[in-house]
Amino acid sequence: MSDILGYQGKRVIVSGCFSGMGAATAKLLLELGAEVHGLDYKDSTLPLASFNSVDLRDAASIEAGVAAIGGKVDALFNCAGLPQSFPAMDVMKVNFIGLRHLTEQVLPLMGPGGAIANIASTGGLGWSRRVPLNMEFVTTPGFDAAVAWCEAHMDDVKEGYSFSKENVIVWTQYMGAHLIKKGIRINCTLPSPTQTPMMAAFEATSGKDVVEAAAQPMGRYSTPEEQAGGIVLLNSALASIVNGVVFPVDGGFMGGVATGQVDLSVMMRRSAPAQ
Ligand SMILES: NC(=O)c1ccc[n+]([C@@H]2O[C@H](COP(=O)([O-])OP(=O)(O)OC[C@H]3O[C@@H](n4cnc5c(N)ncnc54)[C@H](O)[C@@H]3O)[C@@H](O)[C@H]2O)c1
Repeated sequence: MSDILGYQGKRVIVSGCFSGMGAATAKLLLELGAEVHGLDYKDSTLPLASFNSVDLRDAASIEAGVAAIGGKVDALFNCAGLPQSFPAMDVMKVNFIGLRHLTEQVLPLMGPGGAIANIASTGGLGWSRRVPLNMEFVTTPGFDAAVAWCEAHMDDVKEGYSFSKENVIVWTQYMGAHLIKKGIRINCTLPSPTQTPMMAAFEATSGKDVVEAAAQPMGRYSTPEEQAGGIVLLNSALASIVNGVVFPVDGGFMGGVATGQVDLSVMMRRSAPAQ
């Protein structure tokens, strides 16, 4: 196979490689010839170059996992996540605080040409209403300071999922403007509802009708493989100046919303966040 995406022999890290989008991303990268290093708190059975058990709720665990990989890293795929059925602070730690800490550990191992892709969510689309608050949070210096900030702002954190994803979006855009000066790119995806193990929690907490409304206009959930396609494309050589972007991988949902082609009434009737 020709290597137009540029992954052959590249050293990449995938968090959340146990299931769903992370597992699909790791599999696709293996097919593309990358040296794939997986991180998760549940063991992976994939034929990875290495697997390290890392709990993203724990800074020391993250640091040990990255140290065990070491060497030069070409790309990082932040795929791990927890839904809103988990305690809010666990959700905040896995979805944003741990994601940021992992990225900060990996950055010193990256050089020009390095790329980072984060999975955010349409659940975080409220970000544009409160950028100053998000900026205050995403610029907290380190894991413990971010935890302390959340504990002092639980009215904003709420159930954790939407706020964590808002901050993935804002932090990605903020970091894009900084990291590109070192030749490193960072982007994030906005997946549409996707048939992964997390889906059961979304349907239970938000309501199946709300989740299905977010699957318009395609009319079906996406697959983990389709989501892997989007995130692998973002970190690929083909996307060499795509940076700081919030990239919908959603079969047209965002475009449909912007142009009034998607009926949001079901989603608006519920106060719980969509995924
Ligand atoms: N499924 C959807 O419809 C949907 C929609 C939008 C965004 N997302 C996001 O996509 C990403 C992938 O989720 P998914 O749908 O593939 O679900 P998933 O549950 O299959 O995958 C999540 C992965 O994260 C890992 N993980 C959870 N807590 C961890 C921890 N403390 N430490 C290390 N790893 C941990 C899990 O073991 C699992 O491998 C998540 O960030 C999720 O928020 C999902």
